[in-house]
Amino acid sequence: MSFPVDVVVMAAGKGTRMKSRRPKVLHRLGGRALAQHVIDTAVRLSARQVVVITGHEAALVEAGLAAPGGAGTALGFVRQEPQLGTGHAVQQAVPVLADDGVTLVLSGDVPLTQVDTLQALLALCGGQCLALLTLDQPDPSGYGRIVRGTDGAVQAIVEQKDASEAQKAITEIYSGIMAVPTQLLRGWLARLDNRNAQNEYYLTDVVKFAVADGVPVQAHRITDAAQVAGVNSPKQLAELERAYQGRRAHELLEQGVRLADPARFDVRGELQCGPDVEIDVGCVFEGRVVLGEGVRIGAHCVIANATLAAGAVIHPFTHIDGEKAGVSVGPGALIGPFARLRPGAQLGAEVHIGNFVEVKNSTLADGAKANHLAYLGDATVGERVNYGAGSITANYDGANKHRTVIEADVHVGSNCVLVAPVTLGAGGTVGGGSTITKDTPAGALSVARGKQVSIPNWQRPRKNPPKG
Ligand code: UD1
Ligand code: CA
Repeated sequence: MSFPVDVVVMAAGKGTRMKSRRPKVLHRLGGRALAQHVIDTAVRLSARQVVVITGHEAALVEAGLAAPGGAGTALGFVRQEPQLGTGHAVQQAVPVLADDGVTLVLSGDVPLTQVDTLQALLALCGGQCLALLTLDQPDPSGYGRIVRGTDGAVQAIVEQKDASEAQKAITEIYSGIMAVPTQLLRGWLARLDNRNAQNEYYLTDVVKFAVADGVPVQAHRITDAAQVAGVNSPKQLAELERAYQGRRAHELLEQGVRLADPARFDVRGELQCGPDVEIDVGCVFEGRVVLGEGVRIGAHCVIANATLAAGAVIHPFTHIDGEKAGVSVGPGALIGPFARLRPGAQLGAEVHIGNFVEVKNSTLADGAKANHLAYLGDATVGERVNYGAGSITANYDGANKHRTVIEADVHVGSNCVLVAPVTLGAGGTVGGGSTITKDTPAGALSVARGKQVSIPNWQRPRKNPPKG
């Protein structure tokens, strides 16, 4: 684009139909706030700045949005108090817009407009014209109608409540998105009035002024309704979520990822896949997830902030969340079913983590195995260690967390408690049922159990003793 683009995002409205206390534009789609999608789109357009107009719950909205790191786009907020209409909203931003640019007006509740659509709209504006994004809507009710003259040129946008019967029959609607040279916009906004059915200052009235001033009005007419669909209700939010997920799934399928069912697949962040990745139904990916070549994900896994190396297999119903510290799974590792990997779990090659095993802030070297019902927290586990069913690290003394070190080739029997800080020497064995409180020597068998006591002729107390 040969001119700077400044984006104004309207986000001051209340959105009562969401029936929620959360501001409408902060409702999430694909893991991001609705208005964040709009900001991210502006950044991908290389906009000079994004000005978000806030009003209803302004402080919450402002705190909930951010400019992506490293972006050359400045993000700012302007408040609109009270909210007197879309024209009044854009008026609030005018003081921070420079005359050398084009203003692109977007709505904070319209998240799925594509970058190339907006580029086409800006090209149509060309720094000279008023360019409107329009759509053919079989059911246009509620929208502003695009009124064209006999020559086909756009004459005006007429709101539903101000429209004549003939105008109501028009199916070309205004999307709410326009591109306009800022200098012209400034002049036109100064001429707005609120003499209309809603007593609002309509942004759409700038079309009349453009026509009166002989400035060409261009319409970029698209057919993909999802790109201009707004979110006004939970139903619309859910519909757009499916549209968004459908797009993400389609991109991955194109790339060669085998999704068992693109309709039962959710990404709420960034998912990067190598070749030959297979993902079964009902999986959710959050934050940043990287899947190496040949990774297979079983049904109904939730995976967040994790890197899975080539050939790793995640069996069904596994929950992985690296949060800030991340989780890494080594090549050829087998995880689950029903496993839980928490922040700081770092698993080497061919590690096996079986059902109902929880791993937190622990390193497991190549070939280590914990196959059943176990907890490893704050542990350093050596190569080929076998960690028995029901064993746990007692890493927390109520005040501090301590480390457990299990050196290479140790076998920990079933139902052991390793009371940290403690080190199990390489190649040793810990007998089942032991409570280990002191370091164990390398190569030794260590057993630490309470003595067995049997009480002869003992009768178990009964809840309902027999009568008589
Ligand atoms: C607007 C358009 C209509 C178009 C429709 C597309 C006007 C007058 N009408 O109508 O032609 O078909 O969008 O969805 O522009 N907002 C503010 N401050 C305000 C009023 C609104 O920030 O004072 C924000 C809202 O939060 C929302 C956006 O502007 O993000 C659009 O407002 P909305 O009330 O939905 O406009 P519509 O009446 O639907
Ligand atoms: Ca609307």
